[in-house]
Amino acid sequence: MFHPLEKLHLLHEGYKRAFKVGHLHLLLIQSEGRTFLIENRCPHMDSPLGNGSVRQDIIRCPKHGIEFNLLTGKGSAPGCLAPLKIFTPAYEGNLIGIVL
Ligand code: FES
Repeated sequence: MFHPLEKLHLLHEGYKRAFKVGHLHLLLIQSEGRTFLIENRCPHMDSPLGNGSVRQDIIRCPKHGIEFNLLTGKGSAPGCLAPLKIFTPAYEGNLIGIVL
């Protein structure tokens, strides 16, 4: 089932907005022309990532500074972390969303 999140024309460079779909906390990001949809929860200690800084395809958690790759979910801390959860955005008409 498609859950709309945002109108496509509202996406822009530097866009970052949190959404909640059911129990799922999501973060929609646009960086360098690419759109990323991730779980808005750091795998380290569950901190929200909405205030994290984004450069290219990396988001830095504001809590302890671990960086996560937005394409792979891989964290910069050695060994111990579960990856960041990444979702594939879905599109319907002029909307971007998620299929659940
Ligand atoms: S909670 Fe994100 S780096 Fe610690």
